[in-house]
Amino acid sequence: MDENRKRDWNRHLVLVPCPLQGHLNPMLSLASVFHSKGFGVTLVLVQSSSHPAATSWASDDFFYESLGGSDGSIPSAPDVDLMRFLNEVNLKCKSSFRDCLMGLRMGRLRDRKLCVVYDAIMYFSAEVSDELEIPRVVLRTSIVANFLGLSMLNQKAYLPAQEDGAVKAIQELIPSMRARDMPVFDKSCPEATERVLAQIHESTSTASAIVWNTLQTLEQALLHRLQSSLSPPIFPIGPLHKYRTRDPRRRHHSSLFAAETGARREEDRIKCVSFLDSHPPGSVVYVSTGSLVKLSRSELAEMARGLADCGQRFLWAVGLSSADDGGIAQLIPSGEELLCAAADCHPNAPSMRGLVVAWAPQEEVLAHGSVGCFWTHNGWNSTLESMTEGVPMLCWPWVGDQKIIAGFVTRVWRVGLELECDGNGGLERGRISRSIERLMAGEEGREIKKRALEMKETVELALSDGGCSSQSLSKLVDFIQLL
Ligand code: UDX
Repeated sequence: MDENRKRDWNRHLVLVPCPLQGHLNPMLSLASVFHSKGFGVTLVLVQSSSHPAATSWASDDFFYESLGGSDGSIPSAPDVDLMRFLNEVNLKCKSSFRDCLMGLRMGRLRDRKLCVVYDAIMYFSAEVSDELEIPRVVLRTSIVANFLGLSMLNQKAYLPAQEDGAVKAIQELIPSMRARDMPVFDKSCPEATERVLAQIHESTSTASAIVWNTLQTLEQALLHRLQSSLSPPIFPIGPLHKYRTRDPRRRHHSSLFAAETGARREEDRIKCVSFLDSHPPGSVVYVSTGSLVKLSRSELAEMARGLADCGQRFLWAVGLSSADDGGIAQLIPSGEELLCAAADCHPNAPSMRGLVVAWAPQEEVLAHGSVGCFWTHNGWNSTLESMTEGVPMLCWPWVGDQKIIAGFVTRVWRVGLELECDGNGGLERGRISRSIERLMAGEEGREIKKRALEMKETVELALSDGGCSSQSLSKLVDFIQLL
């Protein structure tokens, strides 16, 4: 039994993650935390994503169930746009979730008190829990500022959020925000976007409690403001990934991509670690744009040229949705000694200047002393993981919450730089190379690194005994027990 495990409570938690990497990771961490605290846990996994990895979590009082769509056709992102995906998942999973909960209640868990813990974007869980009178707790996986900003814009009917009035409205809340930091969503169907966002908001504000993957110290004023307008108590217990990585058995088990390519993932992992081991401290630029961003071939080529020009060492996780390794190698300018298809990299080749892989063990990479900066799309998980390790960020946000997160990173916490782009927001090799130099070699970069290391201490403090996240977690555990 886990050291932290206090009691074997009668409460059993049914967790509903969303099958998107950036949402699945924090929920798996939460599952691990709850289990270590003595709760029984059942993970309900949507069928569209294969989760063989999750089965390795199954153990005494830790189960998983599969959830199919009513017609078995749940789409898998990122093949469809996000709002459409959310709409379909929520429509199609509702009845099978009802069956699943009723089955658990009449079968294996008939003597247990249930509580549903769901990702806010899986709002069908809220409807079904209410119908069956099961208490529910919601998990928010992104920055508080994004939620507050969107709620405010929604109330003022400014969504989608790119208009002048919307910018002014959000600046009342967060003065340093600019028009280009506004949340970005698909504009093709504003009504659908508005509807989905309204349901996400509703499923959050009506839960019994809100678990937030953030830290009190990072977003104190906004959390305070939010708590004064929402009745459910908010528990900021982040960064959640740190709870998961404390358990080595479950450390690398959550990649959706890995579910498709398990063997290659392990190969990539070994290559990444060997590559980093062969370079000096703080010398490698780590590049990743997360799991959803799909880069065009011309963007990939310009990134490769910028990396070639800057002269720094780099580790680039391109993601399976952008290109395969071979394709990337061809985009890198010929004649460069850095030619770096994953297949060519050998641990005993210290002169190798770059390594490209499909998928990197990101938490391990960021914790490696050789990494000097992280060129990131500012997904909230990547941002938290970077701040946890004191790694300065080169920010290149794309959609959804990423722009507002990048705004916080560069202008509020000041632990990163914006990637310089051309007048149309496009990539340009000279600007890429200059941005990397500024962060890796200049005085500005040194200041940012100093603040990033202070940020790392802030995170460590929050997680230590008596720290804000740690205290919040204890209160959450007590709260759920009394539900
Ligand atoms: C999405 C949205 O883009 C993001 O803005 C939102 O906050 C969460 O959902 P995603 O694009 O996947 O997430 O980015 P991110 O939140 O950073 O999550 C990606 C996760 O995958 C991170 O935990 C990261 O460690 C992991 N990852 C990514 C790897 O382990 N290896 C990789 O090569 C790339």
